[in-house]
Amino acid sequence: MIRSALGPKGGGAVLLGEVWRRTIVDLSYSACFMDFGGSRIPSAMRKLVVTRLSQDFRSAVTVQRVPVPTPDDGDLLIRNRFVGINASDINYSAGRYDPSVKPPFGAGFEGVGEVVGLGLSASSRFTVGDTVAYFGEGAFAEYTVVPAERSVAVPEVKPEFLTLLVSGATAHIALRRLGDLAEGETVLVTAAAGGTGQFAVQFAKMAGCHVIGTCSSDEKAGFLRTIGCDRPINYKAEDLAATLRKEYPRGVDVVYESVGGSVFDLAVDCLATKGRLIVIGFISGYRSASGLPPVAGRTLPAKLLKKSASVRGFFLPHFLPDYRESLAGMMRMFLEGKLTCEVDRGDGHPEGRFVGLESVFRAVDHMYAGRNLGKA
Ligand SMILES: NC(=O)c1ccc[n+]([C@@H]2O[C@H](COP(=O)([O-])OP(=O)(O)OC[C@H]3O[C@@H](n4cnc5c(N)ncnc54)[C@H](OP(=O)(O)O)[C@@H]3O)[C@@H](O)[C@H]2O)c1
Repeated sequence: MIRSALGPKGGGAVLLGEVWRRTIVDLSYSACFMDFGGSRIPSAMRKLVVTRLSQDFRSAVTVQRVPVPTPDDGDLLIRNRFVGINASDINYSAGRYDPSVKPPFGAGFEGVGEVVGLGLSASSRFTVGDTVAYFGEGAFAEYTVVPAERSVAVPEVKPEFLTLLVSGATAHIALRRLGDLAEGETVLVTAAAGGTGQFAVQFAKMAGCHVIGTCSSDEKAGFLRTIGCDRPINYKAEDLAATLRKEYPRGVDVVYESVGGSVFDLAVDCLATKGRLIVIGFISGYRSASGLPPVAGRTLPAKLLKKSASVRGFFLPHFLPDYRESLAGMMRMFLEGKLTCEVDRGDGHPEGRFVGLESVFRAVDHMYAGRNLGKA
């Protein structure tokens, strides 16, 4: 059953069959419904805006006071309750996604919250008071307008749902489409205790594979064990290359690789015959001017040929046809208790939990210090 944020008795909610829905209290626009009365939408809001291109998030982004946007025909206006931090937030603020897009533009890729306004076409699928998660631009704001087609209904406003939108979907679709996993194979996941790594570990395990996961602390290694990782490697305490050589002399069949640079080189070297390396990202280079960590590219063709191995790139927006089914499957697994969606809300941060729009800056720093356990 879906309930409005105010619950069955609050804000003029009515029961429509099995679904509690708040009444639309103010139809003051000709093309959209805005719930001014029930949700108290202010006229202005705060938003994180990229005002100059830079991979240094703090210098690229400023907090601005702007009018609350109005949804178009196919859009939802969402009051954000949780937003997700992604490693690529700094690629986006550096203008690396679409060089034709010039500042100012909104930052942030995903959120979960309540629908407080919507366009006429969007009202065929959603209504005011629905709780939704979305994958779209400009999420680091108090309110965001998102096309209804990029939003999914969720049973309640919980950050765990948010972990699935980009991080979970990336692992699920990449391993399914590019991993060609077979039972009994060995899978290496780098940045395994992070937002997307935690899902790669679990999906590889569900496929019957032996899973190795890299991370930078014993606390993260302990977490990895709880989600089924067979061999967590804290690369700060153990030599990663030596450990892989010694314990996996045959090599690994699949690598889910997020770090890049020397870790990518090492992963190529440890591929088994017919191994597949999936390039998920290269976070170790994102803070540099080029965004690219150096790799030993000249020797790559010879290394791949000798092992009939392959390197495969994955970028989530290219796999949107798989997206809805993948998300629905992961939601089901989470609700049935079969999938851990670990969220890092900053409880261990010296300045405390990440609450409020300004804390996005701290959360980005936290991730780039390698301290997040689960999805920031
Ligand atoms: N291709 C796609 O469509 C797609 C979609 C989503 C994410 N991604 C990629 O997935 C990777 C992880 O992203 P995420 O958002 O889920 O982040 P995350 O894994 O939650 O956080 C990043 C983690 O990377 C590890 N790390 C290793 N070397 C690092 C370095 N030099 N600097 C900073 N962190 C380093 C850190 O953990 P440990 O050091 O403890 O391991 C850190 O906690 C990124 O490469 C990102 O671009 C790709």
